[in-house]
Amino acid sequence: EGMSLDYLRSPVVCVLGHVDTGKTKILDKIRHTNVQDGEAGGITQQIGATFVPEDAIRAQTKMVKEFVKTEIKLPGLLIIDTPGHESFSNLRSRGSSMCDLAILVVDIMHGLEPQTLESLGLLRKGNTPFVVALNKIDRLFDWRRMPTSSVKEAVKKQNKNTKDEFDERVKGVVTEFAEQGLNVALFWEKVDFTDYVPLVPTSAHTGDGMGDLISLLVTYSQGVLAPKLMLSEELEAIVLEVKVIAGLGTTVDVILRNGILKEGDTLVLTGTEGPFSTQARALLMPQPLRELRVKNAYVNHKAIIASQGVKITGKDLEKTLAGTPIFVAKKPDEIEVLKDEASKVVSSMLSAIKLQERGVYVQASTLGSLEALLAFLKQSKIPYCGVNIGPVHKRDVMKASVMLEHDSQWAVILAFDVKVEREAQEIADNVGVKIFTADIIYHLFDNFLLHRKELHD
Ligand code: GTP
Ligand code: MG
Ligand code: NA
Repeated sequence: EGMSLDYLRSPVVCVLGHVDTGKTKILDKIRHTNVQDGEAGGITQQIGATFVPEDAIRAQTKMVKEFVKTEIKLPGLLIIDTPGHESFSNLRSRGSSMCDLAILVVDIMHGLEPQTLESLGLLRKGNTPFVVALNKIDRLFDWRRMPTSSVKEAVKKQNKNTKDEFDERVKGVVTEFAEQGLNVALFWEKVDFTDYVPLVPTSAHTGDGMGDLISLLVTYSQGVLAPKLMLSEELEAIVLEVKVIAGLGTTVDVILRNGILKEGDTLVLTGTEGPFSTQARALLMPQPLRELRVKNAYVNHKAIIASQGVKITGKDLEKTLAGTPIFVAKKPDEIEVLKDEASKVVSSMLSAIKLQERGVYVQASTLGSLEALLAFLKQSKIPYCGVNIGPVHKRDVMKASVMLEHDSQWAVILAFDVKVEREAQEIADNVGVKIFTADIIYHLFDNFLLHRKELHD
C-alpha cells in the first residue's frame, strides 16, 4: 500500500439500471448537456465517465437547505454511465466493479425490471453502497415541477391526487425491493442508513430531486466513505474501454481511481497476448461536465490526480484488454515484476475472445461492444474466427474471405457502429463477403439471424 496523502479523491459513482429508466438523462441534467438525444435508438451502447466538479455540485444543490451549510471536502464526483440494454451486462459489470458508490435508477412508473435485478445482484456481489433514484416523478398525474425546492417539499406541495399516486407507487417499489430482501426507504424518512437504502425521487426532465440526489452522494462520500477515499501514492487505474479515435489511433479510456498519472510514464498493461509495456504518450481529458465517451475537444495534461476518467494514447494499445488494471513502472527493472503481476490477472475476457478456426468476423467501435457481440454469438452458438476494433478496412475483408474456401456461410463481417471503407466494401462485393452493419446492436443481431434463417430455409 502506498502512503496516504492528506487529501480526499473524488468517489467513482456508477449509474446502473434497466434500459430507459433515465440514467443518461440524469447526467445530462447535471452536465447541462444533450448526450442522450444523440444516441442511436435513444439507448446507451458504450460506457463513459464524467467529472462533476465542486462548483457544479454547489450550484445544483442550492435548494437543499441542510446541505448549503455543509463544507464540500471532495474535489468532485466521477460518474460512470452504463448501458441498461440487456446486451451490455459486461459493461454494467465493468462499471460496478470500478466504483466506490452507485446510483440504481428505477422508473417510478415501471418499478423493478430485469436489469434492475441484474444490477442489484452486481452491487450486492461487490458490496457496493448505493442509493436508488426513483426517476420520472414528473410523470405522476398532474405533477407540478418545483426544482427550486427540496423534493420532500415538492412532494408535500402537490395536489392530493398526485400525492396519493406518489405514496402508492413508492409503497409498491418498497415492497418490490423487500421481496428482493432489501430495505429501502425515502431518504427523508430514516436518520440512519446502515440498514436502509435511501430512495430519492427524481425527475431528469424537470430537475426535481436532482439536488437532493447529489447532496446525498456527497454527504455519504465524505462521511462514511471517507476512509476509502484517501488519495494514495499507489496508482490504481483500470481500463474502462479500448477504442480507435481518428487521428489518435487506438486509445484506452481509463478510470484513474487512485494515485497520480504522468505523461511519459511507463505503463504495464494486460493484453490479448499477455502483459506488455508502453509509454503514456498523451493524457487527454474532456472538460469538466463533458462525457469521456463522446468525442470532445480533449485537453492535454502533464499529470492527472485521481479520481478522473482519462484517455491515454500510445503505442501497442490495440492489444489492451478492457477491465484490466494498469501499472506504472518507476524504474526499468520494475517492468518485468509488474508484467508478472499483470499476468496474474486471469481475465475471463481472454476466453471470451477465443477464436475458432471457422466462423464469422466481428468488428465494433469499442472493445466493450465487441464483447457484447461475442457474448451474443456464443449464446446463439455462432462461431467467430476473427475480431477487430475500428473501421472495416481491406485487410479485414481479406481475413473474412478466407472462409470462402472453407465454409462460405461464415464469409460474413458483422460491423457494429463502425465505418466500412469504400475500398473494403468494393472488395467484399467482388469476392462475396457479406458485410452487415448497424448502429444499434440488436439490429445487427436481428439482421444476421434473419440472413441465417434465409440461408437455411
Ligand atoms: P439506456 O442507457 O439506454 O439504458 O437508457 P437510460 O437509462 O440512460 O435512459 P435515457 O436517459 O436514455 O432516457 C430514456 C427516455 O426516458 C428518454 O426518452 C428520456 O427523455 C426519458 N426520461 C428520462 N428521464 C426522465 C424523467 O425524469 N421524466 C420523463 N418524463 N422522462 C424521462
Ligand atoms: Mg443511457
Ligand atoms: Na435510453
